[in-house]
Amino acid sequence: MRQKSILPAVRVRAILGAALLSGGALFSGVTTAGDLGRGQALHDTFCVACHAPALYQREDRLANTYLEIRQQVERWQANARLRWSPQDIESVAEFLANRHYKIPY
Ligand code: HEC
Repeated sequence: MRQKSILPAVRVRAILGAALLSGGALFSGVTTAGDLGRGQALHDTFCVACHAPALYQREDRLANTYLEIRQQVERWQANARLRWSPQDIESVAEFLANRHYKIPY
């Protein structure tokens, strides 16, 4: 018997996300290990269903260092069964650190 596929809704969003990403990097020329433009596209496509970015600014937030942000990204992409590569995890973590947490990375 064939293995059951992942949730249809996730598949549709993955396809939409891929289409969005093929539009090209928003921030070409960024030389960090991650890619802020790709991080933003991935985040805004897959990670805003449950929480608005205000979550990253709450007083008792869970993450306060780059490493902690990356651990949260790793955790949540796994929860959502996105199977992101280490590079994509890095890109989203750098995007969050830069744009939302506003901490160095
Ligand atoms: C199923 C709903 C859901 C989805 C989808 C989700 N999150 Fe979350 N996320 C949460 C909840 C709920 C919390 C708060 C957890 C807590 O307080 O223990 C959270 C917390 C976080 C935090 C920590 C915020 C802090 O306090 O510093 C980060 C970072 C984060 N999520 C990133 C992501 C990323 C990146 C994605 C996309 C891969 C994602 N989340 C997708 C529900 C979700």
